[in-house]
Amino acid sequence: MCGIIGYVGKKEASKILLDALELLEYRGYDSAGIALSAEDKSSCKLIKCAGRVSDLRKRCKEADVTGDCGIGHTRWATHGGVCDENAHPHRFGKVTIIHNGIIENYGELIEKYGLEQKLYSQTDSEVVAAVLSHFYEGDPYAAIRKTVLKLKGTFALAILFDDIPGKIFAVRNVSPIVAASTRDGAILSSDVAAIVPFTSQYFVVPEFHVICLSKEGIEMFDLSGDKANIDWLTVDWDVSRSDKGGYPFYMEKEIMEQPQVVGDTILPRIKDGKPDFTAEGIKDSTLSDCKRICVIACGTAMHAGLVGKSLIQAMIGIHVDVVMASEFMYNDPVVDKDTLVIAISQSGETIDTLEALKFARKCGSPSISIVNVKGASIARESEHVIYTCAGPEIAVASTKAYTTQLAVLYLLTARMAMARGLWNDEKLNAYMKELMRVPDVMREVIARKDEIHHIADTMLNAKDVFMIGRGLDYSILLEGSLKLKEVSYIHSEAYASGELKHGTIALITEETPVIAVVTQDKLKSKELSNINEVQSRGAKVILLIKGEEIPEQEKIWNSIFRLPVMADEFMVMPASVVLQLIAYYVSADKGLDVDKPRNLAKVVTVE
Ligand code: F6R
Repeated sequence: MCGIIGYVGKKEASKILLDALELLEYRGYDSAGIALSAEDKSSCKLIKCAGRVSDLRKRCKEADVTGDCGIGHTRWATHGGVCDENAHPHRFGKVTIIHNGIIENYGELIEKYGLEQKLYSQTDSEVVAAVLSHFYEGDPYAAIRKTVLKLKGTFALAILFDDIPGKIFAVRNVSPIVAASTRDGAILSSDVAAIVPFTSQYFVVPEFHVICLSKEGIEMFDLSGDKANIDWLTVDWDVSRSDKGGYPFYMEKEIMEQPQVVGDTILPRIKDGKPDFTAEGIKDSTLSDCKRICVIACGTAMHAGLVGKSLIQAMIGIHVDVVMASEFMYNDPVVDKDTLVIAISQSGETIDTLEALKFARKCGSPSISIVNVKGASIARESEHVIYTCAGPEIAVASTKAYTTQLAVLYLLTARMAMARGLWNDEKLNAYMKELMRVPDVMREVIARKDEIHHIADTMLNAKDVFMIGRGLDYSILLEGSLKLKEVSYIHSEAYASGELKHGTIALITEETPVIAVVTQDKLKSKELSNINEVQSRGAKVILLIKGEEIPEQEKIWNSIFRLPVMADEFMVMPASVVLQLIAYYVSADKGLDVDKPRNLAKVVTVE
């Protein structure tokens, strides 16, 4: 978690660092800080505090600090509570650092280097500053090399040395660092989003390589001190997608972008009307030879996997497991060369997904990852990568990343059917035609946002919200429920409607809104009976139903949204947009910080 930024150049570093930290705040937002190196080789100027970047900005204004080289950090607390002392940067001797990750052996290091009485904070990070300072005798590379060899755990470190002003050093293991040259210097960050405003060329710092940023640019060395070559990548994100574009919150903007980015994800991968993954180097044999599929992912990405499971099992007829990546290792996973592993991740950095993927590869499984951030660890770790074209997703609650992941899964299902010779041309054409309609259908839903806002208004005072559906409708609701609880703090549960009678229906009262989704012809009659059951117990039913499916007179709802009609398997797309907008409006109307819900961070790089 934690956002990291470093800048050296001709511009005012404090402004660049603070602006970037605001962009990175989605990674963690319980405290923030910056350090600027002093040209006269005196101590770095350090300003940090518990609270948001806006609080730090005020402190910087009061202190009136300036400089042309510095590092900044926004924190998601792991070791040590939220207070000024635990905020980064941390100083020890001539060394000032910021850290993302977890140092597992910090206790051992405290003992080994006699640090008990010498630390100011409760963090594992300050211990790294102390060990670096212990080894520092004027050669930064030697000190960094000796230090990282002592560390157990994950780390992305950016380092300033008091007596080397104008230079930032950085090194990492697992936790990400990207870097780029700018017109007048260089920049590094935990996220590509923070460097997009400066340049489109960047690189991912390889693990255990040391980079040095100065006004002259960037140099990179491996741990033995040999100069290493840099593999440059190009960001193809539109810079304007990194700002709010006039919307009050990123979440709203990102929901509205979906027709565009889903189209951007689908269209380049259709050749002569057929799904095509030649650009990704995915051979048909990869899709046809596997006997089963195992999807690994967390949270929203895992919910996308559940939709993929329904599609693939129904259309291809092979078994698909969807495993929460955080549980993968604890259930003695059975994956082998016949199991195609699909890792799904917006950030491409979720540690549990990354570790599960590495394990599966060791077992000989072929792998495809579906990732949004170019060059991210999961993308690099898997045999093939399919990038979603969502662009930077800044709001902590994932929206456009989810629907672009679904778009890729729709394409993969069709290509798998082709590779296995399962569909005739007519079936493939009908499916692809429907897939290409998705962006327009999403636009239709967005155009009716006032209707959805009105529905959300009926839920503002709810304590609990249940969501019921079967099959694909249930998968959609798992995601809809996660969205609602994370941004509105309303307790919500998605329940398979057939399972409700086995206990949970006891919780339904006249106060309880129940969102029911009915989009699948084959499930409709059973789903409608379940709605009757909750309505007769007083629940306020909000019905999302495909088209004109039930007539007005059968009033089994309190509010209704008639979804634009698509083939059943594609109804996930319009229904998801409605559920995202409901969550968004409830949160915004309750006056909450929609983009930065409490306790959360966008990228989960700790287990
Ligand atoms: C919820 C949300 C999270 C992420 C999860 C995985 O809105 O965004 O549940 O989906 O933390 O993150 P990635 O996709 O980056 O692996």
